[in-house]
Amino acid sequence: MNITFLGHASLSIEIDNYTILVDPFITGNPKASHIDINGIKADYILLTHAHQDHILDVEVIVKQTNAIIVSNYEIVTHYQKLGYKGHPINHGGNWTFDFGTVKYVNAVHTSSFPDGSYGGQPGGFVIQSKSKNIYIAGDTALTYDMKLIPLHAKLDLAILPIGDNFTMGINDAVIASDFVECDTILGYHYDTFEYIEINKEEAIKAFKNKRKQLKLLDIGQSITV
Ligand code: NI
Ligand code: MN
Repeated sequence: MNITFLGHASLSIEIDNYTILVDPFITGNPKASHIDINGIKADYILLTHAHQDHILDVEVIVKQTNAIIVSNYEIVTHYQKLGYKGHPINHGGNWTFDFGTVKYVNAVHTSSFPDGSYGGQPGGFVIQSKSKNIYIAGDTALTYDMKLIPLHAKLDLAILPIGDNFTMGINDAVIASDFVECDTILGYHYDTFEYIEINKEEAIKAFKNKRKQLKLLDIGQSITV
C-alpha cells in the first residue's frame, strides 16, 4: 500500500492496481499549488464529510476519472443527483470493494456542504486490504469510540488530524493512537490555515515520548505501508 499526501486532508492511496483518493482539496490550498489536479488518478473517492476543505475538487476529479464516490448516505445522494456514481455507507457498516474492505466509523465533528445544506454525519474510514490495514480518522475530536477500532482491525497505520482548533490537537492525537492501538501515525489536517498551524518538531517529540512515530510528509511525498 502506497500513500501520497496531497496536502491538508487529501490523500491518494494505491492498493494493488486501484487508486483511492480521500477528501480532495487541492486547488483551494495555496501550499499544494505544485500538485496538478489534471494528473490525479482515482478509481474511488472516499469522503469523510461535506466541508469544503474535504470536497472542493470532487466534481472536477470525478469528471476526469469517473470514480465512484464512497461516503455517508447524504453526501453520496448529493453527488448521485448531480449524475455521478456513488456507494453510500453509514456508521458501523462494512463493504468489500475490489481493493479491500471499508468500514465507516464515528467521528466527532460536523458535516455541512459549503451552501449550508446537510452533509450527513461525519465519519472516518478503516480500510482492510489483503496486506495492510489503515485508519483514516477524518476531522474528529478524540473520542472513546476509537477504542472500538482495534476490536475490528489490527492497524498498520493511523492517519490522524493534529492541527487542533477544528479537530484534535497533538496531545489528544497521542491518546487517540493509544485508543486505536497503533504506534505509526501519519499526521494531517495541520498548517493549511492559520487556525491549525503547529510546531512540527514538538508534535514529533510528543509521539516519540510515547515510543510512537509521527510521520509528517511534504505535499506530494509518499510512504509505503
Ligand atoms: Ni471539517
Ligand atoms: Mn477539515
